[in-house]
Amino acid sequence: MKARGHAAPLSSNEHLLRWVEKMRTLCDPAAVHWVDGSAAERRELIAGMVTRGTLTRLDQKTWPGCYLARSDPADVARVEDRTFICALSRDAAGPTNNWSDPFEMRRKLRGLFAGCMRGRTLYVIAYRMGPAGSPMSRIGVQLTDSPYVVVNMGIMARTGRAIFGEIDRAQTRVVPGLHSVGAPLKRGQKDVSWPCNPDKYIVHFPESREIWSFGSGYGGNALLGKKCFALRIASNLARDEGWMAEHMLILGLEDPKGEKTYVAAAFPSACGKTNFAMLVPPETFRRKGWKVWTVGDDIAWLRPDAAGRLHAINPEAGFFGVAPGTSVKTNPNAMAALARNTIFTNTALTPDGGVWWEGMTPEPPERCLDWQGREWTPEIGRATGATAAHPNARFTAPASQCPTMDPDWERPEGVPISAIIFGGRRATTMPLIYQSFNWTAGVYLGATMGSETTAAAGGATGKVRRDPMAMRPFCGYHMGDYFRHWISMQKRLSETPRIFHVNWFRKDAAGKFLWPGFGENMRVLKWMVDRARGRALGKETPIGWVPRYEDIDWTGLDFTRERFDELQAFDKTAWRAEVINHEELFLDLHDRLPKELIYERELLICRM
Ligand code: OXD
Ligand code: MN
Repeated sequence: MKARGHAAPLSSNEHLLRWVEKMRTLCDPAAVHWVDGSAAERRELIAGMVTRGTLTRLDQKTWPGCYLARSDPADVARVEDRTFICALSRDAAGPTNNWSDPFEMRRKLRGLFAGCMRGRTLYVIAYRMGPAGSPMSRIGVQLTDSPYVVVNMGIMARTGRAIFGEIDRAQTRVVPGLHSVGAPLKRGQKDVSWPCNPDKYIVHFPESREIWSFGSGYGGNALLGKKCFALRIASNLARDEGWMAEHMLILGLEDPKGEKTYVAAAFPSACGKTNFAMLVPPETFRRKGWKVWTVGDDIAWLRPDAAGRLHAINPEAGFFGVAPGTSVKTNPNAMAALARNTIFTNTALTPDGGVWWEGMTPEPPERCLDWQGREWTPEIGRATGATAAHPNARFTAPASQCPTMDPDWERPEGVPISAIIFGGRRATTMPLIYQSFNWTAGVYLGATMGSETTAAAGGATGKVRRDPMAMRPFCGYHMGDYFRHWISMQKRLSETPRIFHVNWFRKDAAGKFLWPGFGENMRVLKWMVDRARGRALGKETPIGWVPRYEDIDWTGLDFTRERFDELQAFDKTAWRAEVINHEELFLDLHDRLPKELIYERELLICRM
């Protein structure tokens, strides 16, 4: 009876029904399941995955509603080299994206998807990116053969029967996404706990706003609402419709008078966006009444309101956060958010049925099972260098469980943005903080942003790569056109947000971090907000405005003027190399690079 309920379409939208039928015929699943989003359905899906070994039930007293998934060791991160933007022309995708001819790619995909769901269930997920009733929200439908994806999408986006209802009433098109782990089952074949395919394709057709994802069950490759829709497809929608889809957290800083100032901040993957979004101010600030409120930790959709003021929504409903390094010390709010109803992926499992990852506690457990389910002890770790959790281990947690969620985080009109912050992970060159002279200089600053690579994407870690606006892996069209769109947004705004650059990761000559980071970042945030509100002084330098030592509130922190000077130092030789390196990115983009950015570079060189 249950199966029949799930098999019956939950929508009467003819286009949707026709597309689902076409994809069903192509993929040839054993069953179709329309996801109603109910608690009973979730329980049933989880129970099935526990039986098949995809999920391990954690101790339900200490970790209520929590489960652990272990992925295939070859399916642990986004696969940027297998991610494609199949625009009609190669030029429209630009040099920072992999491109393939859309007609050829469709042929290839039809081959890959033919029969790819045999022996599995095709789930139909309707999801909304953005809060209910928001004119900025958008709807997508994901077809997938992964129940793990269904349960994760249920946390990361608003899914279920109500969204099918919205589709039936809506006048606009939804974004279709087809996803398969690419591991059909023969009759009687036993399934593995994490089915996937060594051949992976994460494909976007920007003109028809379609997503096709094959071969991976992990994170941004498989939860199509996140990077595929809310960034790569949405960046195309935003350019065409006059708004912005950005890889940004959103937070609100409340001052002791109760006045809130919202900022959006773009840092590359695994550079501390989640920690910054949930920042706990130092004790001395808390006592005075300063508070940080979280709106989102990864993606912002920004649009000018009728008065030309930039407003932002968080399109997501959950956090897909990097677990390693997260602790009650570094991010107690994330720890509270993930304490219940959370899916952990590739963390370690402790003997008492809990999870652990590097940095969660000062001391590792005496023994545990590592992210691949193998016996792990600190001695084994020391001897082999193997970590207990994978460096890109993740938690999928409902945003509503975070104690600092802003009461207005689901406000349909979004929150007003007063400042935009760019940041990277840089051991040298970049000061702790500087402010761009104006909007165009700020676009230059964001466009030339660099960061040392992390484990969030496959490939080498620790190399500086240019990551414009932290969007290099996520901008769904030509980066030069994207910069032009940024510059043109100024004309749509009655008041441009102030633009800043921060670097929490500068090191001294001995290789030690100069800045304590985490809660202490509040001091820098306060200066930025004061600048945005026109109530703090700064000093002009060749790269922008910087705070003087006395412009920062140091109460409760022993941080000397000398150390601050070292942290803020403008190193002419390093900047020379930096600017020469900017040119490399500009050469790649030269035929579509807005002339404003060439002028900005010239001005920067003149000032230096
Ligand atoms: C993420 C990423 O998962 O940027 O948010 O990789
Ligand atoms: Mn991200």
